[in-house]
Amino acid sequence: MTAACDLSVSLGPLRLANPVVLASGTAGYGRELGAALPLSALGAIVVKGVAPEPWPGNPGPRVVETPAGLVNSIGLENPGLDHFLAHDLPWLRSVGATVIVNVVGRTADDYVKVAGRLAAEPGVAALELNVSCPNVEAGCEFGHDPKLAAGLVARVKEANPAPLFVKLSPNAPDPLAVAEAVLGAGADGLTLMNTYLALAIDVRRRRPLLPGVTGGLSGPAVKPLTLRWIWEAAERFRAPIIGTGGAATVEDVVEFLLAGASAVGIGSATFARPDAAWRIAEALPEALARLGFATAAEAVGAAHGRGAGAGIPRG
Ligand SMILES: Cc1cc2nc3c(=O)[nH]c(=O)nc-3n(C[C@H](O)[C@H](O)[C@H](O)COP(=O)(O)O)c2cc1C
Repeated sequence: MTAACDLSVSLGPLRLANPVVLASGTAGYGRELGAALPLSALGAIVVKGVAPEPWPGNPGPRVVETPAGLVNSIGLENPGLDHFLAHDLPWLRSVGATVIVNVVGRTADDYVKVAGRLAAEPGVAALELNVSCPNVEAGCEFGHDPKLAAGLVARVKEANPAPLFVKLSPNAPDPLAVAEAVLGAGADGLTLMNTYLALAIDVRRRRPLLPGVTGGLSGPAVKPLTLRWIWEAAERFRAPIIGTGGAATVEDVVEFLLAGASAVGIGSATFARPDAAWRIAEALPEALARLGFATAAEAVGAAHGRGAGAGIPRG
């Protein structure tokens, strides 16, 4: 029997039925998983990045398995905004999914164009700005520079008042300076983190395995790194956090909540078990109840020791 526990969480203006979300790029636009599993049972799906025009992505191989994670260099392949609006968003609405649209672009105008068009669409719960892809040229320009990032956020917010999360890069010289800048410019929250720049070698060919040489590391290997970023951001800012990077079990999700995340992205774990996010969401009430939490919100930030059971209020 499932223990009684209110799993709903508020991330600033965004309310989710539970904290478990599918991380961008690891669940496409939801159709494949959604054919077998109810997307409406998750907190949200963060769809793969949407650009104003179709992007071809990088040549293969694009994903390499390593001992404790994946190194990927997908390159933000996506069919573009028109396709998303015509085919994917209506379907996502029809199945009752809570949709967070990950927005990508080569220029600030690209991001603003996508955000602006989405403003007219029902069924977009929030935007996530990807300023942190390590696998495309100029993919990190905005995410590495606090001033550029803040300017971008201000323009996007003007184009679309929806709750806005900025997905940061751990490869930036000072990710928390970028966080401070984007929150100052009107972002509602942070997604921490995108992948960590990494390398895999093909010993037979004596060459890097990925054609672009480097890729982004995700999966269990990065979990302690993600926890550290969540912790530090939670100490410095009052903004809500979507913690993403290395969560694969319900215990991981509880750790992320305790560190200060209000929602947790499940990414690479989905490749190992397509139903990973669903299993976690199902197991979460009991895992939280065992620790004495009556609600998921209570657990958020509770490891910061600000009083008995006191989470960090981030509503
Ligand atoms: C194959 C693959 C594709 C990804 N594509 C995107 C993407 O399009 N946009 C984005 O913001 N993040 C993308 N990511 C990063 C994930 O959303 C997530 O931040 C990262 O994988 C860490 O979480 P995990 O350890 O749970 O996988 C991708 C990750 C993988 C493994």
